[in-house]
Amino acid sequence: MTQEKIQPFDLTVIGSGPGGYVCAIRAAQLGLKVAIIEKSPNLGGTCLNVGCIPSKALLHSTEILHTIQEQAADNGIETGKVSMDVTKVMKKKDKVVQTLRLGIQHLLKKRKITILKGHAKFINSTKIEITDNDQRSEIESQKTVIATGSKVTELPFLKVDGEHIISSDHGIALKSVPKDMVVIGAGAIGLELGSVWSRMGSKVTVVEFLPQIAPTYDEEISKHALKTFKKQGIEFSLNTQVTSAKISKNRVHLSAKKGEEELTFSAEKVLLAIGRSAYTENLGLENCGVVTDPRGRIKVNAKLETSVANIFAIGDVVAGPMLAHKAEEEGVAVAEIAAGKHGHVNYKTIPGVVYTDPEIACVGLSEKEAVESGYEVKSGKFSLAANGRALATDATDGLVKVIGCKKTDRILGIQMIGKQASEMIGSAVAHMEYGASCEDLGKTVHAHPTISESFKEAALAVDKIAIHSI
Ligand code: FAD
Ligand code: NAI
Repeated sequence: MTQEKIQPFDLTVIGSGPGGYVCAIRAAQLGLKVAIIEKSPNLGGTCLNVGCIPSKALLHSTEILHTIQEQAADNGIETGKVSMDVTKVMKKKDKVVQTLRLGIQHLLKKRKITILKGHAKFINSTKIEITDNDQRSEIESQKTVIATGSKVTELPFLKVDGEHIISSDHGIALKSVPKDMVVIGAGAIGLELGSVWSRMGSKVTVVEFLPQIAPTYDEEISKHALKTFKKQGIEFSLNTQVTSAKISKNRVHLSAKKGEEELTFSAEKVLLAIGRSAYTENLGLENCGVVTDPRGRIKVNAKLETSVANIFAIGDVVAGPMLAHKAEEEGVAVAEIAAGKHGHVNYKTIPGVVYTDPEIACVGLSEKEAVESGYEVKSGKFSLAANGRALATDATDGLVKVIGCKKTDRILGIQMIGKQASEMIGSAVAHMEYGASCEDLGKTVHAHPTISESFKEAALAVDKIAIHSI
């Protein structure tokens, strides 16, 4: 084993996901001497390598197939039989990922950030050991940001084997289309990867513990989504708890309970998508005294400081929604705090998106959450079926809902399902960030014809003055 000593850094970031690499760049912009440590051979973390980006590439490719199959004929396009080459789809996805990996490397190098390859472990609060195969080195750092992300959550009787029982890591890289697939969990991964493999021809059944799919979204939006995805051929079993699993003859057999009813499911692949847990394995937290909560997440205060002075934590490894943009914003905030400035994240305006077709997006509170938070609530809805652009572009499946406060007219939340909802939610975030009222949104000029006009109409509908609906 060789050992090497490196000069002290002002700030060291452990993990190069969207939290870590963004934090490193912002800290370097602010004049700090920065290092980033990554144990994986590739920069970019879960998001770039096995998460956001590969899944969106697969969703895009399969959406083209789906659009041709469903809409070509109506638009006067004759296609004959359309098929998909899984190898080529994966190759295209890999190319996108590789381009972005190089992009991150370029950005870090240009900012003169030292990239250290290997597994980081605290020796004490200012000393970190880095191990890369038989190479061992030590660095000193005045301040450290833990951005080590998350790992897939398993069930005691259902461990990922990568063959029959898979996680999203495998679900974005299958070499062929399974005849059938059971997805456990109707959250973001379940719905996105369920859609991908269903569009590719697999018979997909989604098993969800709760009575609602996409349970963090407004009930009306989730109900609409359920109806749409069922029409697309995905089967759902809600209120269902898987209780045991057995593999035989190359198939997984699941037993489950739905109330008093005993159910069984059988499939070539079972995709486990019941959430993710904070990842702090072999990080040496015990050597520096950083404290975790009962769910294993690193405890931080409002300034993202851990229980130890000068050690911060951000992204999936701390509490809050496990989203790349949340990790990025925390990365920027922490870099600014570490440089003596006032970093801040507005947790009330973090958007959520599920990139299915149609897409589901939200910001702020659902109607139920608003009521539970003690607001007197009013809401307005607008169906995309009444939107001209949606009709002209085969995008009528969806609705926008604006939730407002009866007393102040302030927007409390915006929820939507529809084509390009992921792009539209940005303007909803901006309205909420600047504290807009329902009237403000209703009086904002939107280009015609655009699907985003349904936003304005939903805001007008809050006070029952929508123009294009009764
Ligand atoms: P990560 O991205 O997980 O990065 C952590 C990094 O730390 C990793 O590279 C890891 O190798 C490294 N590391 C860990 N321990 C050590 C150590 N001891 N030493 C050195 N390095 C270490 N979010 C969205 O907002 N939009 C999406 O569309 C979206 N899609 C997703 C799809 C899938 C299939 C999955 C699984 C997730 C998706 N997410 C999405 C969630 C998103 O990927 C995460 O929220 C985000 O990656 C968290 O960023 P992070 O920087 O906290 O951690
Ligand atoms: P999730 O938390 O989004 O959804 C998990 C689902 O599984 C929930 O609906 C939950 O009720 C259900 N569930 C939990 N235990 C269960 C059980 N035993 N049986 C049946 N159902 C059960 O988690 P998911 O989909 O695994 O994603 C992990 C993380 O990655 C999430 O935090 C998510 O935010 C992020 N992600 C974000 C995406 C996006 O922003 N578009 C895409 C994919 C992932």
